[in-house]
Amino acid sequence: MAKTKMHLGFDFSYSHMGGRWRLPGAWPGRTFPDVEMYEEVARICERGLFDMIFSGDGTGVPDTWRGSRDAAIEWGMNWPRQDLNPLMVAMSRVTKHLGFGLTYSSTFMHPYYMARLMNSLDHLTGGRIAMNLVTSTRRADAANYGFDELMEHGARYDRMEEFVDVCRKLWDSAEPDLMIWDHATGRVSDPAKIHDVSHHGRFFKVQGPLNTPPSPQRHPVLIQAGGSPRGIRASAYVADHVFGADMDVELQVKQRYALDAALTALGKDPQKTGILWQTPIVVRATRAEAEAQKDLLLTAIPAEAVGAYISYNAGYDFSTVPERFTVKELHDEIVASNASPVGFIYELGHKIGRETTITRAEFFEHAIREATAYDTTLAGSVKDVADILEERFEATGSRGGFMFGHVPALPNDLVALVDLLVPELQRRGRFRTEYRYKTLRENLLDS
Ligand SMILES: Cc1cc2nc3c(=O)[nH]c(=O)nc-3n(C[C@H](O)[C@H](O)[C@H](O)COP(=O)(O)O)c2cc1C
Repeated sequence: MAKTKMHLGFDFSYSHMGGRWRLPGAWPGRTFPDVEMYEEVARICERGLFDMIFSGDGTGVPDTWRGSRDAAIEWGMNWPRQDLNPLMVAMSRVTKHLGFGLTYSSTFMHPYYMARLMNSLDHLTGGRIAMNLVTSTRRADAANYGFDELMEHGARYDRMEEFVDVCRKLWDSAEPDLMIWDHATGRVSDPAKIHDVSHHGRFFKVQGPLNTPPSPQRHPVLIQAGGSPRGIRASAYVADHVFGADMDVELQVKQRYALDAALTALGKDPQKTGILWQTPIVVRATRAEAEAQKDLLLTAIPAEAVGAYISYNAGYDFSTVPERFTVKELHDEIVASNASPVGFIYELGHKIGRETTITRAEFFEHAIREATAYDTTLAGSVKDVADILEERFEATGSRGGFMFGHVPALPNDLVALVDLLVPELQRRGRFRTEYRYKTLRENLLDS
């Protein structure tokens, strides 16, 4: 029987950050945001037949650590970052099949603007666009959009669901065949085929319709990355495909079950919603070579940079942790501060035990491995890595696949994925040998 195929994406979010830009194998003499560098990344990804190239985003300068932005700026932690939309457009112009995933926060953005932008990008790329929605736990981001405090966790997800309701109504506000462009009569489009939206909700009031015709995918692919119980319910409501965290496989299996239950409760078919697991990865001809490359991550940034990274992502200033504490105490404080019940501290509790007492020094040893993605980076020979990916794929229900990323160095570590790993996955019947469809939505459902 034919094996179910994996879907593969490449997340380039962190390629110029966390000290990666100067590791061996990184582009010499090029700095972010050199557009030619990104065009080349897109060409390499398309050569590897990836479903999409993807970027996360953050829109603030991290300043949670010690209440200061200095460490982030000095060491390049989530800094500098641009809106990736223009870079994706550039990359789309040098490719034909590759999809593009862009991240925006439903907590800060407005759905009319986003529905219109995604429609435009979908037209421009011929149906290759995905919108990844995040709720944002990052205080520095919130501070740029009029918030003194993070919006309450549940409310962020209520807003996300309504945000997507509005987008969907706007994308449906014009019928696919409304455009006429009749040279003889001069009629441009049929007014009977365009409809008001008249949305009046808790967060948004939008009259509609959208002022453009439907795009090739009509609804650009929706991705969502929440991992808490409320976040998973939102995934079921919102997402065509989910972006899952690079955590222990038992936690991934747990998320898969929870998502299946949430999808079923909504009357949706769980088989159709894949999870693309974030998977930092280094592959080489031999295990020793791959591990040597991975080890460089631990030398890439100083302790201050680690603090800046983990504090920004968790929405909590870890410079204040005491000399000794239990993971549970820290986790409870983070949840009480409206940040997130999942993430680094939740995963640490899973790994070493929630009631375990640790010292400040031990905590920061875990933190450097988190900030560099060291612990979760799969490093090995082609066979090692392909075996693990197959195991994880099957354990998590053989739906979706992997979002490679956080590679130590671009382009070399991406080229290794394309030239070494992709052929092996193809040999095992686990990955496509050609793009069969035109749109990202269709390619992501091709199994
Ligand atoms: C794989 C993954 C990628 C994420 N990427 C981003 C991102 O690029 N920008 C961002 O602001 N938040 C990002 N988040 C954070 C989520 O939006 C969310 O706030 C976080 O996972 C906390 O989960 P919860 O909101 O369900 O508690 C990401 C989360 C995960 C799991």
